[in-house]
Amino acid sequence: MARIEKESGRLSELIDQLLILTRIEGNVDNPPNEPVRLHKLLSDIVHDTDFEAANQDRRIEIQNLDEVTVLGAMEMLDRALENVIRNGIRYTAAGSAVEITIAKGEDYVAIIVRDHGPGVPQEYLEQIFKPFFRVAESRNLDSGGTGIGLAIAKQAILMHGGSIEARNAKKGGLVIEIHLPLL
Ligand SMILES: Nc1ncnc2c1ncn2[C@@H]1O[C@H](COP(=O)(O)OP(=O)(O)OP(=O)(O)O)[C@@H](O)[C@H]1O
Ligand SMILES: [Mg+2]
Repeated sequence: MARIEKESGRLSELIDQLLILTRIEGNVDNPPNEPVRLHKLLSDIVHDTDFEAANQDRRIEIQNLDEVTVLGAMEMLDRALENVIRNGIRYTAAGSAVEITIAKGEDYVAIIVRDHGPGVPQEYLEQIFKPFFRVAESRNLDSGGTGIGLAIAKQAILMHGGSIEARNAKKGGLVIEIHLPLL
């Protein structure tokens, strides 16, 4: 019974996520145009996830938080950033931190999330944004993911006219860099 309950819980979570993905891909929502204060949004996410991270001997550090407001859909940006940050917490090494930076450019803002985990093999750096794609090692871990978080994050960022990319840091760890256009 416990197993059935756990599996059905997972299934309903998956269905929720698939619906979100379909909704974004179908662009059913109104065009995203509410003012979203990024620094506020990120501080809230960090506040919500920090406790969980601390329980696993991991930290979230905000390196630099320029005050930036973009026009967008708060809910979608929230999902995108939370997914990326939660991945960082999951993969960063025990005792290390997930580092977040917001840097304002001329006509875009960059949000960079960096962890100190194993990173992703070069050949999979683009694939991790595809629905259900998980790197083999992660599948062996009982890390509980479905492999849809980054697909949602990518669609959410694209719907804002932005971009999202993954690369490995020189000294190890994954870097996710998101660009969002400024008004
Ligand atoms: N910070 C990271 N370090 C190392 N590998 C990562 C990192 N983030 C993502 N990955 C790899 O990319 C895969 C896809 O990530 P994604 O967030 O889409 O799925 P998930 O976290 O496995 O599941 P879900 O987000 O649906 O709960 C992960 O399974 C993992 O293999
Ligand atoms: Mg994830």
